[in-house]
Amino acid sequence: MTLQRPKGTKDHLPPGSPGLSLDIQASAHAHVQRVAAQVLERAGARLTATPLFEDAALVKRGVGGSTDIVRKEMFTVYYAGDHGGFVLRPEGTAPIVRSYLENGLKQLGSPLKLWTHGPMFRAENVQQGRLRQFHQVDYECIGSSDPLADAEAIALMWEIVTELGLRGVSIQLGSIGDPQDRAAYNEYLRELFAPHLDALSDDSKERLERNPMRILDSKSSSDQALIAELGVRPMLDFLGEDARAHFAAVQEFLREWEVPFEIDPSIVRGLDYYRRTAWELHHQGIGAKSALGGGGRYDGLAQELGSKAEVPGIGWAFGIERILLAMQDEGLSVPEPAGPLLYLAALEGAQVPLAAQLARQARAVGGAEFSYRKRGAGQAYKEAARLGARYAGVIGSEEAAAHALKLKHLGSGETSTVPFGELNTFLMTTFQGEDS
Ligand code: HAM
Repeated sequence: MTLQRPKGTKDHLPPGSPGLSLDIQASAHAHVQRVAAQVLERAGARLTATPLFEDAALVKRGVGGSTDIVRKEMFTVYYAGDHGGFVLRPEGTAPIVRSYLENGLKQLGSPLKLWTHGPMFRAENVQQGRLRQFHQVDYECIGSSDPLADAEAIALMWEIVTELGLRGVSIQLGSIGDPQDRAAYNEYLRELFAPHLDALSDDSKERLERNPMRILDSKSSSDQALIAELGVRPMLDFLGEDARAHFAAVQEFLREWEVPFEIDPSIVRGLDYYRRTAWELHHQGIGAKSALGGGGRYDGLAQELGSKAEVPGIGWAFGIERILLAMQDEGLSVPEPAGPLLYLAALEGAQVPLAAQLARQARAVGGAEFSYRKRGAGQAYKEAARLGARYAGVIGSEEAAAHALKLKHLGSGETSTVPFGELNTFLMTTFQGEDS
């Protein structure tokens, strides 16, 4: 048996682990989630979660049969040798809309703002920042078609990355119009590319049939050369009146709120459910092809999944690993968890249970650890320092008899004699004193 995690997955490790980088530091992931939670919950978003696997048909309908995700990157779930028609979720939006419809969440009010975080799975070609199991923070605002909802969604994403300290980020904003606008654009692209079929990559030949817009997003350099040569007109030229007005309103709000953005006239997203507003968040230090995040409006998705009524929605997700790679690129770090307030060790085996009991009791005040074995005083203070403890104490037969222990403040070296019964009060007083 090899001790090797599956390709495209990462272990998330504690601080201090060998070879640690920010994108695999478990506490850094938690930090990003915490900052996202603060920003999103202040805006009224509620935490939700859906299963890690979903009906394959749901994902296919939601994400779209012509996307790379559905055609090439789905992880199928087998159990007891049987294919149950399930896939590991490649993204969060279709599952959240499924959950919204199935659980009648409309009753919670409209619009409803939801957010979630967790692993997503795509069987992609693995490279830096491109994983098979990655982690997203995902925000969805369901029930409103107002451009204010779009602007707020974009602003929330911006606030999170700003709060994380990122500076080299930019929002590339576009619109992919209403379905009829997109149909007109696809028709234009078909006519434009048809005479050049031979020059297109195999993938793009297929895209010309199913979804010509996706050719613009091709990773093949010869496709990109042809696109440049043909001088392809951008999607924005094809917006109908309604989509154009909506797009203008979104921009106006963002300008008013001083959320910076650049217009990307030919934005293509890798998922089929988008309508109108679509955007990506990019970082100067991470390859242009790897967005930190992306989102858009998906007013047709609920009906695609079987809802009789149209349920408009807008949302976004960012990849936590990519956010952390960008933070690392900018030399940012995350707050380290503080060491314990107290470390206790027994000088003799007989006092080990007493040290354990006192330390456990002290957890009512703050972090407290204890040694499972007896330790010499020197050894105990060394261990306490390694853990980053504020106070360390040792308990021998003398202390046990006197019902008091000597506590050493590791910063100043000062010692205090503290009766067992006053340990928590002592710690609380000094803890509050030092923190204020
Ligand atoms: P997406 O653009 O497919 O959108 O993914 C969002 C983000 O997830 C990407 O910008 C990237 O940071 C991260 N990501 C995607 N694939 C990978 C990968 N293989 N490895 C590492 N990170 C990755 C969505 O998923 C939509 N559900 C967003 C959305 C929500 N739209 C509306 N609501």
